[in-house]
Amino acid sequence: MTVSRKSTYPFWTLILALAIVQFGCPNGGGGLPDPSAGLYHTYAELDAEMHALAANHPGLAQISSIGKSLEGRDLWALKISDNVASNEDEADVVFVGGHHAREWISVEVPLMIAQHLLENYASDASVKNLVDQSEIWIVPMVNPDGHNYSVTTDRLWRKNRRNNGDGTFGVDLNRNYSHEWGGPGSSGSTYSETYRGPSPFSEPETQAVRDFLQQQAPKALISYHSYSQLVLYPWGHTNSPAPDEALLRQMAVAIADAIRAVHNVSYTPEQSSELYLASGDTTDWLYALLAVPSFTIELRPRSSSPGFELPENQIVPTFEENLPAALNLIDWAIQQSNVTM
Ligand code: ARG
Ligand code: ZN
Repeated sequence: MTVSRKSTYPFWTLILALAIVQFGCPNGGGGLPDPSAGLYHTYAELDAEMHALAANHPGLAQISSIGKSLEGRDLWALKISDNVASNEDEADVVFVGGHHAREWISVEVPLMIAQHLLENYASDASVKNLVDQSEIWIVPMVNPDGHNYSVTTDRLWRKNRRNNGDGTFGVDLNRNYSHEWGGPGSSGSTYSETYRGPSPFSEPETQAVRDFLQQQAPKALISYHSYSQLVLYPWGHTNSPAPDEALLRQMAVAIADAIRAVHNVSYTPEQSSELYLASGDTTDWLYALLAVPSFTIELRPRSSSPGFELPENQIVPTFEENLPAALNLIDWAIQQSNVTM
């Protein structure tokens, strides 16, 4: 995004970029490099990028709004599939990000997954196979009002921008889902960073995600967050194991293994409650509703320094290490629907 572009890239990089345009791309690839690759996106930049992806890949990508934020921003979803305009009887898989405002990397990873699928469809048979047999949904920014506030005003803002009416602002969207809403690890205090809201699904952002997921009934979901490098599976509201604990654990281990295979970076697979108890999150709700594998991936970094402020030069490697796991999950969902047909 423009805010940090200035500080991160000195003037000579512009000269270099112009030289590359003039004399050819050093990787010899077809076409110019994506000017926004490796930079954080503002809401406006994300909006433009998603519309451009849909416009450049007609028949494969379709953009729609699943609802509006409190301040009226569209919550954009990108659907990726062959015959994208029709609702085919194929496995739906959802990648969602940006529940928490300051977790900027959680927006970029699902966006880059979309870019990868669309830009490699024609040249990579394995990408084509996955896209042809599934319906992939990318919802990269569930909390655009909070994200915007994080960009313009308070880098470490977490919640949405609900005016709580008592001088405080914000509901924690990842405590606002209805399964065991109000339980441990959520707060009834408007002042808290984990304020659950006045009632389950009180927020337009979580209502939109709820309605969307109920309609699509995905076979699997990943909700990206940061930071800590974890692969979390339900339950989060209780230490008790989920009914499908063995499968969930096995899949989380496989995801972590696939991540480590790329850049040798370790993400720890564990039940969500082992991080801490938290009630009302996305993945507990979806798992309770549909009994499908739902994971929270806490992206880079591992620890509080740099914490939420992951440098832009780590965006691409974080995407790279998460891509194979995302592709594997799509493949798994396709196999599942084949089995049950
Ligand atoms: N950091 C996320 C949050 O606080 C993780 C939630 C995962 N769920 C859990 N029960 N620990 O929303
Ligand atoms: Zn988060």
